[in-house]
Amino acid sequence: MELAELLPAAAACRELWGFGDPATLLAAEAECTAGFAIPRLREFAAGRYCARLALADLGAESAPLLMGAGREPLWPTGFTGSITHTAGYCAAAACRVGAVVSLGIDAERIVAVDRSERQVLFCPAEIDWLESLASPEQAAMACAMFSAKESYFKCTFPLTRRFLEFKEVELRFGARSFAVLNRNLDSRVHVRGAYRFMGGHDIVATAVVATSDPEDVSVAAPF
Ligand SMILES: CC(C)(COP(=O)(O)OP(=O)(O)OC[C@H]1O[C@@H](n2cnc3c(N)ncnc32)[C@H](O)[C@@H]1OP(=O)(O)O)[C@@H](O)C(=O)NCCC(=O)NCCS
Repeated sequence: MELAELLPAAAACRELWGFGDPATLLAAEAECTAGFAIPRLREFAAGRYCARLALADLGAESAPLLMGAGREPLWPTGFTGSITHTAGYCAAAACRVGAVVSLGIDAERIVAVDRSERQVLFCPAEIDWLESLASPEQAAMACAMFSAKESYFKCTFPLTRRFLEFKEVELRFGARSFAVLNRNLDSRVHVRGAYRFMGGHDIVATAVVATSDPEDVSVAAPF
């Protein structure tokens, strides 16, 4: 469970390598999938399957995990979490509210992010940093940065209900973690991010954890 290493001990994380089985969806969840093409149905089923296992690890009763108006998963009262899928891999993380305020996870297959895409996704200082890296590292770190922004969005959306442009959020990367420089959150909420490469370096996974305790070092590694 490689992605779990990015999360606080209080979180439960379940992963699935391969594809989801739509037969595992609960009836109310299946109702959300009208019009889904088969690949989307499989990834949705994989996410719900992992999320149900993660919630069970925390002692939650099994219940349908429906979709909110912003496409966010609607976690049972008292729990929060996040889901990600990329080709052949899915993960869900869940945590009791209180142990964290919110969390977001994301996984991406590593692909080239060309110059024009970087201009859309990244701030000037982020691009300068990427271009300072040796070229094999640039593609991996560009994907990590993209993924980190997706994780930040998933973590903050349930708190703010705001969609974000990629360049609204500026990140600074360290060896295993990243800091969010221009957060859009209440100043009492503290945010930490961590990343790692996995699956033989084909996939980058990121997690952003929001807590109410600035001293909480049990969440993702400090920047
Ligand atoms: C929603 C989004 C973040 C999903 O990321 P992705 O890499 O395309 O896909 P992933 O498989 O990793 O994640 C999809 C899951 O994210 C979750 N998700 C979707 N919308 C969400 C939201 N508003 N809030 C929290 N989680 C959300 C869902 O669980 C979804 O899976 P499901 O529909 O099967 O339940 C992305 O499609 C998007 O809309 N991004 C634009 C907003 C953004 O990221 N801005 C930049 C931030 S700086």
